[in-house]
Amino acid sequence: MNRKTKTVLRGTGSCLPSRIVANDEFVRTIDTSDEWIRTRTGIHERRFASPGETSATLAIAAARKALSKAKLDPHEIDLIICATITPDMMSPANACTIQAALGCRQIPAFDISAACTGFIYAMSIGDQFIRSGTAKNVLIVGTEVLSRAMDFTDRNTCILFGDGAGAAVLSASDQETSGIQYISLYSDGVNQNLIQAPARVIKQAAPGEATVEHVRIHGREVFRFAVYRMVELIQEATLMVERLGLKIDLMVPHQVNRRIIDSALSSTGFPVEKVMINLDRYGNTSAASVPIALDGAIREGRAKPGDTVLLVAFGGGLTWGSAIVTL
Ligand code: UT7
Repeated sequence: MNRKTKTVLRGTGSCLPSRIVANDEFVRTIDTSDEWIRTRTGIHERRFASPGETSATLAIAAARKALSKAKLDPHEIDLIICATITPDMMSPANACTIQAALGCRQIPAFDISAACTGFIYAMSIGDQFIRSGTAKNVLIVGTEVLSRAMDFTDRNTCILFGDGAGAAVLSASDQETSGIQYISLYSDGVNQNLIQAPARVIKQAAPGEATVEHVRIHGREVFRFAVYRMVELIQEATLMVERLGLKIDLMVPHQVNRRIIDSALSSTGFPVEKVMINLDRYGNTSAASVPIALDGAIREGRAKPGDTVLLVAFGGGLTWGSAIVTL
């Protein structure tokens, strides 16, 4: 491995469906209210894909914007990794659909499944391809259409999720200050039943076992898991940035529930002014949540070149992880 090679974030992009679904739309079909959803989650509205949109089409649009920001042509990309739990098909991978649509060379392209932590997993894989010298430019995408996996009679879940895609181009660089400083990834399959999304090829249910046909969550348990792990990830990252002689300018957490973020901030003392929050507009977009928020932070000028950004995510698997990146 060339130890001098570092992985820099060269460009980001995102794509949200144009269809806005306000909290009030749920009131017609389930026993809920705009007030309950706003106060218990912080979500005001989310985006749902229209019939012609899929996780691949949203990903392609986000990827084009990231490539344009990175000032790279599609043929300069050496690897595509797409994080999603709602791919168009099990095969081909969304990443292959993206490769074809962008007109990339016959490069490796594959999907990964790590739910809401997927983008950070993809970033870690891309980083390792770059630092080993195997790839120079890697396109990573997080994309979801969870609206297609919802039970719209289940008020515990259907109000939480939205659709969208976020992308980033990672590139090899020999300069020392910016780039990926640290990534940590975790999983705990023992508690997998807390968040479940259906497989496209449904697993054979054991006698008496219910088949998972829609996204199913154990909200309170997930809430506790999310706060606990978010606190742990912030504490770990705080120690790491001290060791690296850096400071965190902005945290971009997975956008699930405003109360989860607030609880983690009050436990760690991390200042709310340094946190990117867009869940009021987009809800929880799973693997797309962190890259959409990161792209928004960069476009809104909240994360500037030279800033060190902490990405934090947690979700189904269970999985969780973080990345420290200097822009
Ligand atoms: O990315 C990972 C996936 N994300 C998650 O799993 C989300 C994590 N969990 C959460 O964000 C929160 O736990 C929820 C938003 C899901 C629920 O909030 P909560 O404050 O933990 O509510 P709760 O589950 O303790 O339920 C309180 C009450 C219940 O009624 P009863 O049993 O007290 O009569 C629920 O049935 O709120 C009821 N409730 C609702 N009421 C109106 C649950 N959903 C709704 C709703 N509208 N949409």
